Amino acid sequence: MLDPYRRPIKSLRISVTRKCNLNCIYCHEEGELHSAHPYEISVPEIAKIARLCYNEGVTKVKFSGGEPLLRKDIREVIEALPPFEDISMTTNGQLLDERIGDLEGLDRVNVSLDTLNAATYKKLTGGKIENVLRGIDAALEADLTPVKINMVVMDGINDHEIGDMIRYVQGKEMVLQLIELMGFKNRSGLRGSNLRLIESTLEGLSNRTTANTLHNRKKFEINNAEIEIVRPIDNTEFCMNCNRLRVTSDAKLKPCLLRNDNLVDVRGIDNLSDERALELIMSAVTRREPYYKPSFLDGAYSRRKAGTY
Ligand code: 5AD
Repeated sequence: MLDPYRRPIKSLRISVTRKCNLNCIYCHEEGELHSAHPYEISVPEIAKIARLCYNEGVTKVKFSGGEPLLRKDIREVIEALPPFEDISMTTNGQLLDERIGDLEGLDRVNVSLDTLNAATYKKLTGGKIENVLRGIDAALEADLTPVKINMVVMDGINDHEIGDMIRYVQGKEMVLQLIELMGFKNRSGLRGSNLRLIESTLEGLSNRTTANTLHNRKKFEINNAEIEIVRPIDNTEFCMNCNRLRVTSDAKLKPCLLRNDNLVDVRGIDNLSDERALELIMSAVTRREPYYKPSFLDGAYSRRKAGTY
C-alpha cells in the first residue's frame, strides 16, 4: 500500500480504548476528539482491518489507548491478529504486572515513565510509581523486550533526570526513548525541553550512533544503554518517513496524528466484503499527507497547511 507521496504503509497503530486509569497533564490522547459516550472498536473490526492490512504488506502493529490494558478482552484482541513481524503495546504500566498473563502473542511493550521520582510521577500522572516499576520488571521477566521507556522531556520537571533514566535502562533489555513534548495541552504551562540540544549532547557522549528507519530516529548507545530520540515537531523528515496508519478507539481510520478532518469511519467493517473493506482502507491511505512537509513539495511555504490543531 503506497500513499500519494509514495510512502508505504508498514504499520498500524490501533487505539483500543479511550479509557485511562491515569490523568497525565501533558497527554495528547492520540489526537482523538472527545465525545460523551464513545463507541469502542470491536474485536471483529480490529481483526478485519488487521488481516487486510497484513495482506497488503503491513508488518507491525502497536496497540495504544487510552490505556489498552483496561480492555477486559485484550487477550482476544491480540489473538485476533495475523502473524505480524512486530506486535507491541504502549501502556502506562499500571496494570502490566496484573495482566501479563493476557499478553501472549505480544512481542514487546513501550511503557510510559517520565520520572523515577515517586512524587514527580504522582504530580504528572496521578498514579503510583511502584505499580509501573513492578510492571516493567514483569515485562522483562516475560521477555516482552526490548522494553521501551517513553520519557516525555519537560523543562524543570524531569529534564534533570535524563542521567538517572539512562542508568535505569543500562545493561537491561531496555531502550530509553526521549520524546519531545507536543503542545496539545499547553494551557498547563508545560515547556518541552529542547531535544535538538539533548540530541547533540548525547551524540557527543555516545559510543555508537545510528539512525533507525522509522521516522529516521537517532539512536545512541552510551555505556550499554540504548537511547532513542523522538522529535516529531516541525520535523519534515519525521513526516516524510511516516509509514503508519492509525485506527481510533471509535473505529475510524486516522491518516495523521495531527489532524481530525480526514478520518474514515470503518465501524461495521467486519460486515463488509473484503473488497469493499479494502476500498475503505485505501480511501484513508489516499488521504495521507505529510503534516510537516518540505516547502518544495507544495510550491507554497505551507508547513502547517492543514489540520484542526
Ligand atoms: N507529547 C509527546 N508525547 C506524548 N504522549 C502523550 N502525550 C504526549 C505529548 N503531549 C506519548 C507519551 C506516552 C504515549 C502514550 O504517548 O510518550 O508514553
